[in-house]
Amino acid sequence: MLQGKKILLAITGSIAAYKSIFLLRSLIKEGATVQVILTPSAVNFVSPLVLETLSKNKVLIGLSNDHEWSNHVMLGRWADVMLVAPLSCNSLAKMAMGICDNLLMATYLSATCPVVVAPAMDEDMWKHPTVKNNLHILQQHSVRIVPVGHGELASGLYGDGRMAEPAELLVYLVEHCFRNNRLQGKRVVITAGPTIEPIDPVRFIANSSSGTMGIALAESFYLDGATVELILGPVAIKPQFQGITVSHVRTADDMFTRFAQVMPQSDIFIMCAAVADYKVENLMTQKMKKNDGKAITLSLIPNIDILSYAGQHKQAHQFVVGFALETNNGKDYALKKLASKNADMIVLNSLEDKGAGFGYGSNKITIFDKQHNVYPFELKSKKEVANDIRECVFKKMQS
Ligand code: CTP
Repeated sequence: MLQGKKILLAITGSIAAYKSIFLLRSLIKEGATVQVILTPSAVNFVSPLVLETLSKNKVLIGLSNDHEWSNHVMLGRWADVMLVAPLSCNSLAKMAMGICDNLLMATYLSATCPVVVAPAMDEDMWKHPTVKNNLHILQQHSVRIVPVGHGELASGLYGDGRMAEPAELLVYLVEHCFRNNRLQGKRVVITAGPTIEPIDPVRFIANSSSGTMGIALAESFYLDGATVELILGPVAIKPQFQGITVSHVRTADDMFTRFAQVMPQSDIFIMCAAVADYKVENLMTQKMKKNDGKAITLSLIPNIDILSYAGQHKQAHQFVVGFALETNNGKDYALKKLASKNADMIVLNSLEDKGAGFGYGSNKITIFDKQHNVYPFELKSKKEVANDIRECVFKKMQS
C-alpha cells in the first residue's frame, strides 16, 4: 500500500513509543522508505538501535550528529509525509507555539510535506483545555490529527488518550495522504456479500459469500479517488477506510431498494453480491414448529435480479459490471449472463479453479466484455484481483 513512499517517522517521549516499533515494521513491510527522528527524551522510551535496524537508516536525534549538521530543511522536502507518532503533550505544545529546541521541532517547523500527528497522553491531560487549544492550533495549520483510542492508559486508568494502533495509523496514512485521484468525480456502487431470506423470525436461507471480493473492490476504487457506496449483505468484515459509505442490508429486496435509490446519480456499478435468487413466498410471523418430523415444503418465489435491473435502466454514461460464479461451463454461462443482463462486462470466477471463489483469500478470474474481448488472469489475492478489475473498467471507460 505504501510502495515507494517516503515517510519521516518522528517519535516523541511517551510510553506509547513502544508501538512505534511495530508501526515502523508495518511501514517498511508495506514498501515505504522510512527516516526516523527522535526527540532527546524519546530515547528513554525506545531504542535507536532497534529503530535503526528496522528502518535500515541512521536514526536522527540531535541538530548535529557526529559533528555533522542535520539538514532538517531537506528532511521535510524529502518526505511525502511527516508522521509524529506518538505525539506527547509537551511536543504538542512546542508544535503549537513554534518552539524550536530540537531536531524534530526544527524539521516540523520547516516541513513542506503534509504532517500527521498521533497524540498519546493520559485522559486528564487529553481533556485539558490547553491541550484542546494546542490541537486546534495544529488543525488551523493543516496538521492532520489521528483520533486517540479508548482503553488502558499508562497511569493504569481507563479512558481516552491512547495512541492509535499501528494498523490504524497505516490505514489512516493510506486513506488521508496517499489516495490517487484518477477516478475523482466518479461515483461507484458495489453490491457485496450474501443476502439472506427469512423463513420465520429465527430461520433464514443464506449462502457462504464472505464479502471479501466486494470489499476489496470497494477499497480499490476508493483508493483510486472514486466516491464509493458499498451495499453490503450480512458479513463479519467491513472496509478499512472510513470514507467508503456502507449501506448494510439483509435481503435481496433491501439490496435492490438501496441500489435503485443510488443508481440514478452514480456512474459505475459492480454487482459482486451473491444475491439469493429466491425468497420464501409465505413468510411465517411465528417460529415454525417441527410438525412431528414430517417432511415440509417451502414455496419460493423469484427475487428481483438487480444486475438485470441495472442493465435495463443504465444511461449512456453508466457502466455495469456483473459477476458469474460457476461450477461448470463457465465461459458459456458468463457470456450468456453478459448478454441477457445487458452488462458491459462480466467477471467469471469458476469454482473449477482451485483457490477461487467463496472462502478463499485468492481468486482467479476471466473478464469478458461486450466487444467480445477476453481477459484471463492468473490466481491472485482478492486485493490484486480487485485492482485488475478496476484497471479493466478504467480502460474501458477511457476508450
Ligand atoms: N445478481 C443480481 N441479482 C440477483 C441475482 C444475481 O444482481 N437476484 C447478480 C450477481 O450479483 C452477479 C450476477 O447477477 O453479478 C450473476 O449472478 P449469479 O448468481 O452467478 O447468476 P444468476 O443470475 O443468479 O444465475 P444462476 O444462479 O442461474 O447461475
